Amino acid sequence: MNSHSKNNSFRPGELWLDNHGVHINAHGGGVMFYAGVYYWFGEHKIAGEAGNAAQIGVHVYSSRDLYNWKDEGIALAVSDDLHSPITRGCILERPKVIYNPSTKKFVMWFHLEPKGNGYSGALSGVAVADNVTGPFQFVNAFRPNAGAWPQNVPAEQKCPLSPEETAWLAQMDLPGGPVPYYPKQILFRRDFADGQMARDMTLFVDDDGSAYHFYASEANGTLHISKLSDDYLKSAGKFVRIFPGRFHEAPALMKWRGKYFLISSDCSGWAPNTARVSVAENIFGPWEELGNPCLGPGEQVANTFNSQSTFILSVQGKTDAFIFMADRWNPANAIDGRYLWLPIQFKHAVPTVSRHDEWDLSFFKK
Ligand code: GAL
Repeated sequence: MNSHSKNNSFRPGELWLDNHGVHINAHGGGVMFYAGVYYWFGEHKIAGEAGNAAQIGVHVYSSRDLYNWKDEGIALAVSDDLHSPITRGCILERPKVIYNPSTKKFVMWFHLEPKGNGYSGALSGVAVADNVTGPFQFVNAFRPNAGAWPQNVPAEQKCPLSPEETAWLAQMDLPGGPVPYYPKQILFRRDFADGQMARDMTLFVDDDGSAYHFYASEANGTLHISKLSDDYLKSAGKFVRIFPGRFHEAPALMKWRGKYFLISSDCSGWAPNTARVSVAENIFGPWEELGNPCLGPGEQVANTFNSQSTFILSVQGKTDAFIFMADRWNPANAIDGRYLWLPIQFKHAVPTVSRHDEWDLSFFKK
């Protein structure tokens, strides 16, 4: 494949060249469909380990056929201002963009770690634009749902930490101390006033226009599902905790025949692990885990074909047509991360994913 040849298939894991013949640079991304065009937003990564932090920003590409992508440039640029939360060298991951028809704004959410503090910030960043390809303007970074209790916890858990619990937690957090697993449902209570930790994330807009933010919270131990405000710029203060202590990361969501399906990963950093699919009839739950959606031989299935979930793309103009988007990370040379787009197939009304070296959209006519 070169810059002059057109793609007419997906080749998961191979280099995927844009209209300039350059490997697409949109990691941890998401795709939105707007006015007949797909837009793929993702993390722009540079070569080497330095590429694991944000040196450039969020890259956007456009396509009408999902195979051939045009470089539309940097949608959200990191800042040269050292005091900006998105200053160059911050960590800016898993950007997702949705369109708000009432405000006519494109709204981007991402996981943000301010520069120099590793992954301790656990913030959500928000940016907006008038045009789909940007430029997006940074609005705010915060921990979601400050001052709100989860909807699905018993009344006795809706209280701040006692001094004893605070002391216990401080001991757990000591460097070299025990593995920080928090069996006491303690972190969301600690974070009530200042907002909940938020790392790996996705956005989902439901049929009624309500938007939801799924994020790995409570030191990644528990997923939160949080409704966004009507303008999509803030948390609405309505959220639930799901799968406490199960460490779901990399959430990706789809709705099929009235049910919500979540594909997520386990928690092992850049190293791949076993995916999980979960189902719910209501977005706020109850949610049920159904096991590993990947089908095929041993290790490939155990490590999600050597990748981690990122997004589920709903193919326009077809029914039951969804693409599982995943990243094969390369933390030693971040720019060389690969994309695995694989067709979702329903088996006994459960989404499954199998490996294909090459496939195209005619798959969905079967
Ligand atoms: C993964 C996560 C990625 C990135 C990475 C850093 O678990 O899904 O988005 O944060 O950890 O180690």
